[in-house]
Amino acid sequence: METTHSPIRPIPVHPGLPVIGNTLEYLRDPLAFFRRLQRDYGHERMVRINVGGRATTLMLKPEETKQVVQENNRNYGRGKSFAILKTFLGNGLLTSEGDLWRKQRRLAQPAFHRQKLAILAETMIEEAVAWADRLEKVADNKPVNFSTATTDVTLRIVTKTLFGSSLGDQLDSLSTALANLNHFAINAVVNPIRAPKWVPTPSKRNFERATTQVNNLIFGIIESRRKTGETRDDLLDMLLRATDEETGEGMSDEQLRDEMVTLFTAGHETTATSMAWTLYLLAQHPGILQRAKAEIRATLGERSQPSADDLRAMPYSSQVINESLRLYPPGWVMSRLSLGPDRFGDHAIAANEGVLLSPYVLHHDPASWPDPEHFDPERFAPELSKERHPYAYMPFGGGPRLCIGNQFALMEMQALLIVLLHRFELRPVPGLQVTAQPLISLRPRQAVQIYLS
Ligand code: HEM
Repeated sequence: METTHSPIRPIPVHPGLPVIGNTLEYLRDPLAFFRRLQRDYGHERMVRINVGGRATTLMLKPEETKQVVQENNRNYGRGKSFAILKTFLGNGLLTSEGDLWRKQRRLAQPAFHRQKLAILAETMIEEAVAWADRLEKVADNKPVNFSTATTDVTLRIVTKTLFGSSLGDQLDSLSTALANLNHFAINAVVNPIRAPKWVPTPSKRNFERATTQVNNLIFGIIESRRKTGETRDDLLDMLLRATDEETGEGMSDEQLRDEMVTLFTAGHETTATSMAWTLYLLAQHPGILQRAKAEIRATLGERSQPSADDLRAMPYSSQVINESLRLYPPGWVMSRLSLGPDRFGDHAIAANEGVLLSPYVLHHDPASWPDPEHFDPERFAPELSKERHPYAYMPFGGGPRLCIGNQFALMEMQALLIVLLHRFELRPVPGLQVTAQPLISLRPRQAVQIYLS
């Protein structure tokens, strides 16, 4: 965006090695690398780095991040990193662009409206209670591994809220088939060494098999819904009924399939990871844990489980979740490709340049967050939140491509947290230090083990 005519100063370049640039420094510890860049170049507001043979500009401050994702968002596309995701997500919301994305977002948005989500909250609470029942059986004097236990429950919740609870056995096969497909796709994104397209490697054959299975299951469900015309309280139903205000058209079966696989993929791993981090942080901070439990006790009284309305009435548990998402935002970095030139004060970028935006960097900036590594939910007390730049905190991205599932995720995390804390005491495993591993999402490197009693 042309905001000033002052002379252009080049964006600082972080020095690196010939050819490989900063790749080694990045690979050694991406988070420490980003924090160093923030410290050394924060006053310049952005820095150019070269990772994997591609020069990109990392935005270090909320204002410039806002310009890219919101004010001048039309100047930025998804870039090449989304091409692999397209092979299995097709043209769903995460990977599509331009007019198709705009149309799909318009169609899908109402399904994520607060009132619609309140219906899904019942399923979330029901699944949270069933989860706590399962945990009670395994927690006998040994720590629970929440890195896997949270995936178990978020997988069930996303499958049920998307496809409904009436699928019976099919629900499990669909959930397993989708999880397999996700597994292959994530490997393909993370693994930089790939055989040429025409080589039929075993993993490609598995990928194709998983794709066929998922497609058969989803198309079968869509067909039977269209045939019977039955109404259900799930996201598939809401998307099936969605029609474009301008054209009156609904979604084709293929488009519906792409959206369902996208929502499934975007909608469980991230929430599972955040839940694991939240429980880890609470187990490490008994004072904060007890305050959260006191709020739950005061709200629920003698009742054994919350209602959908209760979730909104527990602000401290929301603050805990927000603070956990600040320290460990699962979407720690987002990439864009500039379509045309853009101007940021006296810095400028040209067309066709890579841009990185990092919730992790913004959330650990001491200029916005004093003592940034310290876990303190009080930061999200309403009076303190008012003074911050809106983009100092962006675990769900921002602008028109803001995560469509943000309220869904927060509601689900609250349901899980409240049910769990109401039922159990959490105790840390002595000496366990969990560090972050930035893969596609920011995962715990060590298993998050916690005692329940
Ligand atoms: C804690 C949980 C979650 C986090 C941290 C998270 C984070 C994000 C972020 C940062 C983006 C923006 C990516 C970008 O602009 O490049 C995004 C997009 C998206 N998320 Fe989430 N997400 C979460 C949960 C969910 C859930 C539960 C769903 C669905 C049920 C979901 C569906 C999506 C979709 C469809 C998009 C693409 C939206 C678009 O471009 O129109 N996410 N998410």
